[in-house]
Amino acid sequence: MTPEEVLKLIQERRTARKYSSKPIPEEQLQLLIESAVYAPAGGNKASWKVIIVKDPETKKKLTKVSLNQEFIEEAPVVMVFCGGRVVNVAAAIQNVLLMAHALGLEGCWIGAFNEAEVKKILSVPPNVQVHYIVTIGYPEEELTDPTKRFPEEVVYYETWGQGKVTAQLILKILKQALDKVNEFIKLREKIVAKYGEESLHIYRLEEKYSAFVFASLAKRIIDIAKEAEVEEPEIKLIEKTYRDYAEKRGSALGTTKDINSPQVVSVEREYSTRIFPEVFRKAYRGLLCKLK
Ligand SMILES: Cc1cc2nc3c(=O)[nH]c(=O)nc-3n(C[C@H](O)[C@H](O)[C@H](O)COP(=O)(O)O)c2cc1C
Repeated sequence: MTPEEVLKLIQERRTARKYSSKPIPEEQLQLLIESAVYAPAGGNKASWKVIIVKDPETKKKLTKVSLNQEFIEEAPVVMVFCGGRVVNVAAAIQNVLLMAHALGLEGCWIGAFNEAEVKKILSVPPNVQVHYIVTIGYPEEELTDPTKRFPEEVVYYETWGQGKVTAQLILKILKQALDKVNEFIKLREKIVAKYGEESLHIYRLEEKYSAFVFASLAKRIIDIAKEAEVEEPEIKLIEKTYRDYAEKRGSALGTTKDINSPQVVSVEREYSTRIFPEVFRKAYRGLLCKLK
């Protein structure tokens, strides 16, 4: 494999939250497990275990105690990582997700669940921690890049703070945000035409863009503005929007414990279709001449 192919595999792996009902062949499942055990581990003393769940009733129960993330129930295979050190589990999960992608599958790494309830469902002993759930299946959604930080957002050279970010980087991220807004509008139209406004496909799309794309872009802008000491009103507006969204989403999820409840759906819809797009457009227009 060339380095470019490795990078492509890493970059094109995507979290999927809609799966077809097609089962995963046993040989593929074995490849996923073998990839997990080949992960690096502190002292090479990994001691985690993974519970493979395929039983529909058990998956249904797991969904119920995981904020009703219905794709747990949908996924043909659910892997529940328990015991050992969480860092070693994280390395194993990344391997699983990369192998899944190589096999034409995709997954979702899940941290939002009621651990005590999951333990009861799977008879996990009290002294063993349930770290993460990972769903795996054939994706049934258009997988778009949620965007990641640019290399210049993450790198210092030799010592902390060397190679500080510039204010212009904010414009670059905002441009990326506007591209994502346009992508979302087109995708949403397509999915509404196919599945309707009130469909799990649309709920997952709106959640993805508000929670994992737009909120993450807003956070990047806030972080860079702080580092580059940019204190324009446009940044304050992004900060306020980001805070309000986190609060509203958290409160709706906290009270309903259901990602498909009308309260959660309405927050995700409002922020993905209207609020984040408006704020990004306004900020780009306002900052374009100030930061050039
Ligand atoms: C520790 C951890 C916990 C996560 N928990 C959840 C979760 O509970 N529900 C969910 O839908 N996605 C969850 N994710 C998936 C992230 O949302 C996803 O990786 C992120 O949006 C980036 O998308 P990508 O994986 O396509 O790059 C989790 C990821 C990690 C690493």
